[in-house]
Amino acid sequence: MGSDERFVVLVGVVLVLSLMPFSMSDDAAVMKALRGSITSPGLNWTSADVCSWSNVRCDNGPGRVTAIQIPNLNLAGTLPKDLGQLGQLQHFDCRANNFTGAFPHLATTLQTLNINNNGFTSFPEDFFEGMSSLQVVSIGANSFSQWKVPESLKDCVSLTSFSAIGANFSGKIPEFFGSTGPFGSLQNLSLSFNNFDGGLPDSFSGSGIQHLWVNVLPGNNKLSGTLSVLQNMTSLRQIWVHGNNFTGPIPDFSNHDSLYDVSLRDNKLTGVVPESLVNLPSLKVVNLTNNRLQGPPPKFRDGVRVDDVINQGNQFCTNVIGGKCSEIVDILLKVVEPLGYPLMLAESWSGNDPCGGNGWMGIDCDGGIVRGINFQNKGFSGTISPSFAKLTNVTRLLLNNNRLTGTIPEELTTMPNLMVLDVSNNQLYGKVPKFREGVKVNTSGNPDIGKDKPSGGGGSSSGGVSGHTGVIVGVVVGILVLLVAGILLYKYCGKNKGGGKAQPPNAIVVHPRRSGEGDALKISVADATAAAAAASASASSPKSDVHHVEASNFVISIQVLRQVTNNFSQENILGKGGFGTVYKGELPDGTQIAVKRMESGVVGEGEKGLTEFNSEIAVLTKVRHRHLVELIGHCLDGHEGLLVYEYMPQGPLSRHLFDWKDEGIKPLEWKQRLIIALDVARGVEYLHNLAQQIFIHRDLKPSNILLGHDLRAKVSDFGLVRLAPEGQTSFETRLAGTFGYLAPEYAVTGRVTTKVDVYSFGVVLMEMITGRKAIDNSQQEENIHLVTWFRRMLLNKDSFRKAIDPAIDTVDEETLASVITVSDLAGHCCAREPYQRPDMGHVVNVLAPLVEVWKPTEPRGEDTFAINFDESLPEALSKWQAYEGTSTIDISSSSSSTSMLTSRDNTQSSIPNRPVGFAETFTSYDGR
Ligand SMILES: *[C@@H]1O[C@H](CO)[C@@H](O)[C@H](O)[C@H]1NC(C)=O
Ligand SMILES: *[C@@H]1O[C@H](CO)[C@@H](O)[C@H](O)[C@H]1NC(C)=O
Ligand SMILES: *[C@@H]1O[C@H](CO)[C@@H](O)[C@H](O)[C@H]1NC(C)=O
Ligand SMILES: *[C@@H]1O[C@H](CO)[C@@H](O)[C@H](O)[C@H]1NC(C)=O
Ligand SMILES: *[C@@H]1O[C@H](CO)[C@@H](O)[C@H](O)[C@H]1NC(C)=O
Ligand SMILES: *[C@@H]1O[C@H](CO)[C@@H](O)[C@H](O)[C@H]1NC(C)=O
Repeated sequence: MGSDERFVVLVGVVLVLSLMPFSMSDDAAVMKALRGSITSPGLNWTSADVCSWSNVRCDNGPGRVTAIQIPNLNLAGTLPKDLGQLGQLQHFDCRANNFTGAFPHLATTLQTLNINNNGFTSFPEDFFEGMSSLQVVSIGANSFSQWKVPESLKDCVSLTSFSAIGANFSGKIPEFFGSTGPFGSLQNLSLSFNNFDGGLPDSFSGSGIQHLWVNVLPGNNKLSGTLSVLQNMTSLRQIWVHGNNFTGPIPDFSNHDSLYDVSLRDNKLTGVVPESLVNLPSLKVVNLTNNRLQGPPPKFRDGVRVDDVINQGNQFCTNVIGGKCSEIVDILLKVVEPLGYPLMLAESWSGNDPCGGNGWMGIDCDGGIVRGINFQNKGFSGTISPSFAKLTNVTRLLLNNNRLTGTIPEELTTMPNLMVLDVSNNQLYGKVPKFREGVKVNTSGNPDIGKDKPSGGGGSSSGGVSGHTGVIVGVVVGILVLLVAGILLYKYCGKNKGGGKAQPPNAIVVHPRRSGEGDALKISVADATAAAAAASASASSPKSDVHHVEASNFVISIQVLRQVTNNFSQENILGKGGFGTVYKGELPDGTQIAVKRMESGVVGEGEKGLTEFNSEIAVLTKVRHRHLVELIGHCLDGHEGLLVYEYMPQGPLSRHLFDWKDEGIKPLEWKQRLIIALDVARGVEYLHNLAQQIFIHRDLKPSNILLGHDLRAKVSDFGLVRLAPEGQTSFETRLAGTFGYLAPEYAVTGRVTTKVDVYSFGVVLMEMITGRKAIDNSQQEENIHLVTWFRRMLLNKDSFRKAIDPAIDTVDEETLASVITVSDLAGHCCAREPYQRPDMGHVVNVLAPLVEVWKPTEPRGEDTFAINFDESLPEALSKWQAYEGTSTIDISSSSSSTSMLTSRDNTQSSIPNRPVGFAETFTSYDGR
């Protein structure tokens, strides 16, 4: 279709969308129907104005109901079918009542849904269609008949928490919950007490899920397969898989920085408990009983709560915690490790003597000495361990008729007493090592034996399916990106029509409000009002006068922040930034946060100051991207503003570029720098083009780029300067920024465009290439300014090599080529004229292929989640809600800060982090 037609369609869609709210039926009538269908004891909803009813909130215009919060009120009855006609409904919470009947459809504006612990008998399959704003779902513990996880859930692209405990689901756990699915922000997945079968989906690999609950009551054990995918779920904080039929070893948890609660009990896990679990610093609770775990009983740190591992149902070699196994047992465990510690062996291998008792399966003894290994016809897969060679008394090694892959280890030739080696009928390849004369070696029935490589006939089943899904998701997201970009283009092309040179969408030129003449560069944040208030507003904050803003911006009380930061103690200071001091905090559940306490004066005087602060925060909480530091919540204490961010354990990029020696850390390798550069470029690209509003950072520099444990980067401090109002092509501004990173036109004229950030980004690239600071006063006069010096070095390829940071270890040809490409890009970004600089999209396109060279397989498609659909409640809502034990969207009371503290104090159990929608009332059925 032609572009005109397309435009008509677009206008049509817009028209339909904009007309919808007004053509809806009367909310009051629906609410009255709801009142009528609730039976005893009922709510005293008597007034004619439904918006004045308790537990009901209206805030999108007169008479439009946005929230109904009636949890835990002993209500019975049904819900009217027409409830879906509340066209602005965002929050519906009726959990822990006695409602029955079919659950109705609700409007697609819905953001949170809590209906668990009722007697609803059915739930619409297509309920979730079009619900792109829905973030929190809790539907468990109802009276549904057996059903499958509805496919329509895939529309909930903003989903952060899905709780369906005891929801009577059957079938497989859908792949779409994983990293190849549509949920870029899913953190809580609570599927306990259902009837799922099959295993954990492969797509869980690389997902950001933090709380995974798939436990059932022992005896209902349904889920099977191994737990190996957990190894690639490094965001996990809590793993509850108990009561199932999982087999194989406990996976490696060495990259799981936040994991604190691991319940693996009542499965059929085998093998040695890995060091990575035993030494996990964040670990608080671990449950391992009733498995077939082998080797020495693990000794966890003091303070880690462990269930009674020794006395219940494992196959440890001794019952002394921290004890040792005999040498022969250690060898045998090494031997079966590459076979995945087969269950049938683990079941028979008890004690510390393979020749004791009835003897161990597969082990032939003679006179108390292991003489033979007989693993024939066992269906084992995996590879042949070189550790077999340590079994020096063994004469017969029979591994035939299995599915073994790999090669025959050279080490086996050293076995002094070996007489027979039978590896026939497997899938081995490679050269057969040369054994001593007299050893009978049978390798027949291995089609690839003697060849260099396996011919790759079998075993290529995995990956295909999920790869495909990835492609499809990628395509869909790609289309969406194009669509959004298209709409943006439409908008701007329209605006710029007739304006001479066609300007790209982000070329917004602004003329700032300037006061005075001499104050060339003031490095500050806020508004004129704030500056005026700066002097007065400091210490005089009214005692614990906690302001509660609308619930959708997550408000955290000052008491809580005080408590978790040790009353803002000196030791907790992470750093001092442009806008205030940043403190580290730790919630009782171990969640680490960074609390930014704004300089006094940042929040302006009076109601206006508060309103402005709140509205800016409201916008910032909506800007979410993988490469932007997440704003979790905020707090206003008098006129002191505090922002709560996710904690970034590896600190700022500057630490790794300039301070690594002092800090005693390793300097970054080139490929790490490259990945960081791409991460930052993607974050900034998002700010410029993809977020709902255009954000110009204006103070991009290494101290504002923070690194996670995996050295992946996120941009921080965006949006604090001032926001570019939606749809406006210009905005007034004050200068902000840091010398050395300021684009020349910005420094001189104050004109702000996205190209200001591109310039700063170019400077950051130069710093990453050279390891030198933007302004380096230790250099000779003409070399102080990095950009000037770098441009000069770039002119000459020989001098250029000397400009590369000596801390970059190996500069081989490939690295050098990559460095040169990035250097050209950096030069380009720092072009004098803004129009000569590329936009961030171009920068991403240059960097991405360079990163690909080093990282051929990204665990999840880098761009798959570039769009942020998530628009209101911060994900962290769930964490905090769990921490509070109460609903955060508490519309009836104004004292949620106190309830936060009380509920914390009342928590006897230190398992703090319950997924959302899983309130105190759930005790009868509390997920254990
Ligand atoms: C009913 O209204 C009265 C006063 O109007 C109030 O005190 C009471 O708490 C209300 N009850 C409920 C259940 O909302
Ligand atoms: C539901 O009703 C039953 C009796 O009909 C009552 O025992 C139970 O406590 C009620 N549950 C809730 C959550 O109100
Ligand atoms: C973990 O991720 C790596 C890299 O993406 C992949 O090769 C491997 O198969 C994954 N392992 C599991 C068990 O999913
Ligand atoms: C558990 O898994 C094993 C195979 O891994 C199977 O033989 C057994 O039947 C399963 N048990 C249950 C209760 O599903
Ligand atoms: C794990 O074990 C601890 C200590 O015995 C116990 O308090 C906790 O309830 C258990 N957790 C689960 C999920 O079983
Ligand atoms: C081999 O046998 C000798 C005794 O003949 C014993 O001392 C030794 O520990 C055995 N080694 C292994 C690895 O079984």
